[in-house]
Amino acid sequence: MNIVLMGLPGAGKGTQAEKIVAEFLIPHISTGDMFRSAIKEGTKMGLEAKSYMDQGLLVPDEVVIGIVKDRLSKEDTNSGFLLDGFPRTVAQAEALDKMLGEMNKEIEHVINIDVDKNLLLNRLTGRRICRECGATYHIIYNPPKIEGRCDKCGGELYQRDDDKEETVATRLEVNIKQTEPLLNYYQNKQVLRTIEGNQEIDEVFHSIEKILRGQA
Ligand code: AP5
Ligand code: ZN
Repeated sequence: MNIVLMGLPGAGKGTQAEKIVAEFLIPHISTGDMFRSAIKEGTKMGLEAKSYMDQGLLVPDEVVIGIVKDRLSKEDTNSGFLLDGFPRTVAQAEALDKMLGEMNKEIEHVINIDVDKNLLLNRLTGRRICRECGATYHIIYNPPKIEGRCDKCGGELYQRDDDKEETVATRLEVNIKQTEPLLNYYQNKQVLRTIEGNQEIDEVFHSIEKILRGQA
């Protein structure tokens, strides 16, 4: 199953991606996570990406396309893959179609998680992430059992640098601008399904699961 997960910052892509890959046993390819790992490792690409991410801007297409191509070539994609946060521009979508074509593959499902823009600011500023395993929490909507500690591994929870209020506003603006043409691109290919993302986390997952199982 070859899946693209779309949605504005804070829509719940990462949260749902964790559930989807656990259920369907496919690799989770998140460009945001890949950049954060590269930053942590201090690579040249990580440093370049950081300069854009810290401002809430998109990393240039050629950099993003390059890392996804590399990653897809290394993963076992026989059962499929889940792309989270990529593509984010029409140029990235076209490049993805080209690289998948060379692998005799294509995108089967594009799931767009739709959440009211007014809710996204709260979701992002309240988000906390596990330093050890990357699991995502929210101080109000999805709190850990012990404050500041990951339920899964006991790791320390931290706030992402780009979840500060001033960066969040730019991130939302930049992504809103890119989203409409990308939705049109996938609408024309008849693979796009939009999910109401302003529901409980498990209800959102249930809606996604039904689509992926061909039951909706
Ligand atoms: P990335 O890491 O992909 O960030 P993003 O797109 O801004 O998305 P987020 O991770 O912020 O949100 P999410 O939708 O995953 O929400 P989450 O599940 O965490 O990218 C970071 C940066 O990298 C970009 O800004 C850009 O610079 C660069 N980049 C990455 N990909 C790129 C690309 N393709 N091209 C160019 N640049 C790129 O949920 C958010 C919060 O809400 C959490 O606290 C969660 O617990 C809570 N929550 C989730 N679902 C619910 C629910 N249903 N109800 C209540 N709360 C919920
Ligand atoms: Zn953890």
